[in-house]
Amino acid sequence: MKQTYMTIKEGKIFLETSENIEKKYVDLGERGRYYKKNKLNDLTGKEWIKFSKSWFILRPKRRNDGVLLHPAKFPESLVEKYILFFTKKEEKILDPMAGTGTVNYVSEKLGRIGYSIELEKKYFDIGCKRSNQYFFLGDCRNLKNFKIPKVDYIITSPPYWDSLKRNSLRQTKRKEIGLDTEYSSNSKNFENINNYKDFLNELVDFYKNLKNRLKKDRYMTIIINNLYKNGRLYPLAFDLASKLGEYYTLKDEQIWCQDDKPLIPLGVNSAYVGNRHHIYCLVFRNEKEK
Ligand SMILES: C[S@@+](CC[C@H](N)C(=O)[O-])C[C@H]1O[C@@H](n2cnc3c(N)ncnc32)[C@H](O)[C@@H]1O
Repeated sequence: MKQTYMTIKEGKIFLETSENIEKKYVDLGERGRYYKKNKLNDLTGKEWIKFSKSWFILRPKRRNDGVLLHPAKFPESLVEKYILFFTKKEEKILDPMAGTGTVNYVSEKLGRIGYSIELEKKYFDIGCKRSNQYFFLGDCRNLKNFKIPKVDYIITSPPYWDSLKRNSLRQTKRKEIGLDTEYSSNSKNFENINNYKDFLNELVDFYKNLKNRLKKDRYMTIIINNLYKNGRLYPLAFDLASKLGEYYTLKDEQIWCQDDKPLIPLGVNSAYVGNRHHIYCLVFRNEKEK
């Protein structure tokens, strides 16, 4: 007997027969149904909807010793979540400030092709050992020097201006065992730009130029945060979202809630200082000329 099902496409509700559904979808059991003409990824509708929630909690596993030297590596589970949503198998992904090459590592694991650039040799060396993808050493601002094709997706996290330098005062344990608490004193490192406005403008300029390396209508995710310095908040994530929105279309700010960090008694009985336990994942799209 023919059955009728309700389906949702581009926000509209349709009634379809079971025969029709079999032609258009692949049943992936627990995962849900995969729409054969899905333009963006290899996910089912059920998985797509789950991703679209604007906040999420991740409790990443402890890092292994091989990558501990880097003071601000992002977790594999975060990259995996985004790569699975914004690409299909065999597509190309770029991280221009790649640190230990987490994007290349996850790209390889998920059957994508990773391209990465990192300025510091010590992190580049770690990244090269982690995967067999394309890894370039140098200043990402010299994009022309690297043989990188147009990619299907960019995911990256720049230095949060000079925030590591201030944190480093507290990171005595890392220092004692010889681990980095900041990237380097290299003047080409974005971390070493002295003034907030200069830092912001250079970062915006860099991402603006990256646009011609991203295929049309594809996405870029920047993992970034606002930062607290000398008693005030610098709205880096908001400034970047607003300024880059002139060149890309800003689609969302997803919030990674870090509920595994301990609360520290900051300013108690005196003045408000926040325990900042979240990070912004800004989602841009390379839409028509802006
Ligand atoms: C937040 S970390 C990225 C960490 C990386 N996602 C990982 O998982 O290891 C930012 C990186 O940008 C690099 N960087 C800063 N300025 C750069 C530049 N001009 N060119 C290339 N990389 C740069 C830093 O050395 C640092 O490793």
